[in-house]
Amino acid sequence: MSELQELYRRVSVCSDCDLCQKRTHAVPGEGPENAEVMFIGEAPGFYEDQQARPFVGPAGRFLDELIASTGLRREQVYITNVVKCRPPENRDPLPSEIESCRNYLQRQIELIKPKVIVTLGRYSLAWFFPKDSIGKVHGQIRVKDGLCVLPMYHPAAALHAASMRQVIQEDFQKLPDVLAKASQAPAQTEPREPVAEQMRLF
Ligand code: URA
Repeated sequence: MSELQELYRRVSVCSDCDLCQKRTHAVPGEGPENAEVMFIGEAPGFYEDQQARPFVGPAGRFLDELIASTGLRREQVYITNVVKCRPPENRDPLPSEIESCRNYLQRQIELIKPKVIVTLGRYSLAWFFPKDSIGKVHGQIRVKDGLCVLPMYHPAAALHAASMRQVIQEDFQKLPDVLAKASQAPAQTEPREPVAEQMRLF
């Protein structure tokens, strides 16, 4: 079993916060272990909780379209969320829930080593840059601990406000260029103590 699969197993039985009580399935994430691009959303919704897969509902269909518009295929990229279990009624995740899940996402980033991380929505942006506002930084590269982060609005924003659709589509058009540039950059050395040490899980 790879470390990533072992992490999935741990997420599937995790009881570190109360979200475990109402979930049907935890949703660890999916995609190749050598993916160059990692998309990070907020938390699973109804369909994700049913299927144990990220972004398979209406927002996921738009995300698939956006990914395809960049010339990438969904099977090529890694997709996960800040929080791995569905908050009841799709409410916003609590700070304590985000912290409970933090080490899982941190370890996924360490194992996959994506060249570009696309944050989808404000929770995912805040995971890296708590002080930034999505309205100001969407579509602009940010660097954190040697990671190239491209903040985007959440695809669900376009489902709630049609005017957002074009903004999101335009931001996604920047991804191929950002990926090409990030691929030219020399590989980053481990930015800090890998989280496996802190978790003492692996
Ligand atoms: N919204 C998210 O943030 N993540 C999902 O997996 C689905 C919808």
